Amino acid sequence: MYGTIGILTGGGDAPGLNAVIRAVVKTATCEHGMRVIGVEDGFEGLLGATKTRLLSPSEVRGLLPRGGTILGTRNRGFFVERAKENRSVETAYDEAIANMRVLGIDALVVLGGEGTLTIANEFDKRGIRVCGVPKTIDNDLACTELTFGFVTALDIATEALDRLHTTAESHDRVMILEVMGRHAGWIALHSGIAGGADVILIPEIPFSLQTVADKIRARDLAGSNFSIIVVAEGAIEIGHELVYQDKGDELHSPRLGGIGNHLQRDLEEATGRETRCVVLGHLQRGGRPNAFDRMLATNFGSCAVRALANGEHGVMVALQAGDVVTVPITEAVKNIKSVPPNGQLVRTARDTGISFGAPDEANYHKPL
Ligand code: F6P
Repeated sequence: MYGTIGILTGGGDAPGLNAVIRAVVKTATCEHGMRVIGVEDGFEGLLGATKTRLLSPSEVRGLLPRGGTILGTRNRGFFVERAKENRSVETAYDEAIANMRVLGIDALVVLGGEGTLTIANEFDKRGIRVCGVPKTIDNDLACTELTFGFVTALDIATEALDRLHTTAESHDRVMILEVMGRHAGWIALHSGIAGGADVILIPEIPFSLQTVADKIRARDLAGSNFSIIVVAEGAIEIGHELVYQDKGDELHSPRLGGIGNHLQRDLEEATGRETRCVVLGHLQRGGRPNAFDRMLATNFGSCAVRALANGEHGVMVALQAGDVVTVPITEAVKNIKSVPPNGQLVRTARDTGISFGAPDEANYHKPL
């Protein structure tokens, strides 16, 4: 049993972070008599003079519906400051661990995606006991059916598609919605099905502009005067590169984005149809979590504390078949969870008339 545990949030924010923090503090203090120290700004808060604060149940009151993270987060990695100072990565671990010893932190609950949890596991290997909580709106972490934040992002993208439908129909336009999803197309796939898109473009199925243009023409011929396309920021047109806003450098992560605007120009030229693009961006990450994510985040947070109290470490809580279980972090970060291109949901989308823009798309669709 631990006297004091630390908690930190790393990577991009996601709706539900504060709900996890609340559940961890309540479960640890009320049920297990532990103290909880909140580490600010991700792992960076463990370096130098450290940025931490004691979290009591009264401090987490009212956090369930609050977006963002009260602890702050960083997604440029733990090592950026070191890199600037030309200091080795190992000295960063040593410094952070020495600081945790001074603070009395024996174990850490780390809320993050693949990058954050990879770093968390390094702490576990070095003797700080870690339990990870899977966070990302992209839903691309392996070993868990869902990450918290994803379902809220999905609601936001679906509402955007509903709104684009009415304006597209009024103006006889093609409307493109660009959503997040660097390596995996879960938001695009789920929202595209829920929001009735005509075309879904995802990183896992490279697309041909010709096929997308053909789908729009086919809809025109069938009397549908508008079309809706949802494209993940990491979707790739065959024969082209990924589209970046900023390719990044050793201090900054690359930023994807812009595929929707490329598509808008090229499709307008190919089809002669007026086409507009909306980039949904960080609206998918900001604001209050929906009811499902509040529940999932609370369950994840509480189970993470129970796992540590039971002596488990180097693990991540995960949703499997409706239950929260623990899995080794090494398994969760080995590969990202991408959309199976021949999986059930892609098949369902195709069976209900949605095109993925693949060159052989016609093989999947029966003539109207
Ligand atoms: O991983 C979550 C995510 O939202 C990605 O989908 C997106 O590419 C990235 O974060 C954006 O990060 P930033 O906040 O640095 O722009």
